[in-house]
Amino acid sequence: MTGAFPVRRMRRLRRTPALRRLVAETALRPDDLVAPLFVREGVDEPVPIGSLPGHVQHTVPSLLAEAKQLVALGVPAVVLFGVPAAKDAEGSGAWDPDGIVQRAVSELKAAAGDELVVICDLCLDEYTDHGHCGVLGADGGVDNDATVERYGRVALAQARAGADVVAPSGMMDGQVAAIRAALDGEGFTETAVLAYAAKYASALYGPFREAVDVTIAGGGDRRGYQQDPANRREALAEVALDVAEGADMVMVKPALAYLDVLAEVARTCEVPVAAYHVSGEYAMVKAAAERGWIDGEAVLLEHLLAVKRAGATAVLTYGAAEVARLLAG
Ligand code: PBG
Repeated sequence: MTGAFPVRRMRRLRRTPALRRLVAETALRPDDLVAPLFVREGVDEPVPIGSLPGHVQHTVPSLLAEAKQLVALGVPAVVLFGVPAAKDAEGSGAWDPDGIVQRAVSELKAAAGDELVVICDLCLDEYTDHGHCGVLGADGGVDNDATVERYGRVALAQARAGADVVAPSGMMDGQVAAIRAALDGEGFTETAVLAYAAKYASALYGPFREAVDVTIAGGGDRRGYQQDPANRREALAEVALDVAEGADMVMVKPALAYLDVLAEVARTCEVPVAAYHVSGEYAMVKAAAERGWIDGEAVLLEHLLAVKRAGATAVLTYGAAEVARLLAG
C-alpha cells in the first residue's frame, strides 16, 4: 500500500529483460519482412537514391547480390519495382516479356529458387510517360476498364517470368478479378495475388517517386483512384471486394498513419494482411537520425513493432535488411 488505494504492482513483470521477454505479446522477426527493391534498365552501376538512404536503383547483377544477402539474413520476400529506360502513354514496358522486371525476376528465380518469395508490384505508373497508374481516356482521366485489361497483361508477363506473387497497386476497380482471370486463363493457378487493397492518396510516397523517376503530368495527383485519408469504413469495403475477387493477401498502405485501419482490417479479414511502411515513413526516420535528433535504429524497430502489434502479418519496409541485422544482434 502506498496510499489509500491498494496498488496493483504492474512493474513486477517489467523488472528484468527475461521477465519482459516472457510477457511480450508481439515480436518482430526477419520472417515478417518484405524488402522493396528497385531495378533500373540501361545502367552499368547501381544508382543511389538520395531520398532513401542505403537504397539504390539496382542493375540486375547488383539486385541478385542484394537478394542473396537478404536470404542470408532470413528475410523471406522481396517486392520488385522496375525503372524502364523508356516510357510511353500506355506503359507497355510493364508487360513486355523482355521488360526490366521480367528479366530481373527470371534471373532472381534462377538464382534463389524457392528460398525467396518474389513479389512484383503490378502497376503502370513507372512505365507511363504521364506518370498515372493507368491509361488515360478521352477526358484525360484514368480509364478504369482499359487499365484493368492492361493489368491482366502485366500479371501474365510477370507470372511467365516466374513471379511467385503479383501485387496490383493501382487501385482500379475490379483489378484483382481481372488479374486472377488472366492468370487462371493461362494456367498460372499457383501465382498468388497480394492486393494493395486499402491504399491511400498519401503525401508519404514522395521519396518513392524519386526512386522510380515518376512525375505525375501537370502537377496531378492520384486522388481520383487512391483512397481519401479521411475514410476508414471505405477501406473495409475495398478489402472485402478484393478478397471476394480472389486476393490471397491484402495490404494497408501507408502503415503508421493508418494503424486504425490496419487493426480493423486485421481483426475482420480472413486472409493474411500486409502493411507497407512506405518511403516517406522510412525517409523521415533517416533524416531525423542523420541530424542526431532521434536514435534511428530504435525508432525503426519501434515503428515496425507497432505495425505488427496493430495486426500485420507481414511488413514491407525499406529497413528490412537493417532490421534483420539488428534482430540478429
Ligand atoms: C505505385 C506504387 C507507389 C508506391 C508503391 N507502388 C507510388 C504511388 O502510388 O504513387 C509507393 C511506395 C512507397 O512510397 O514506398 N506503383
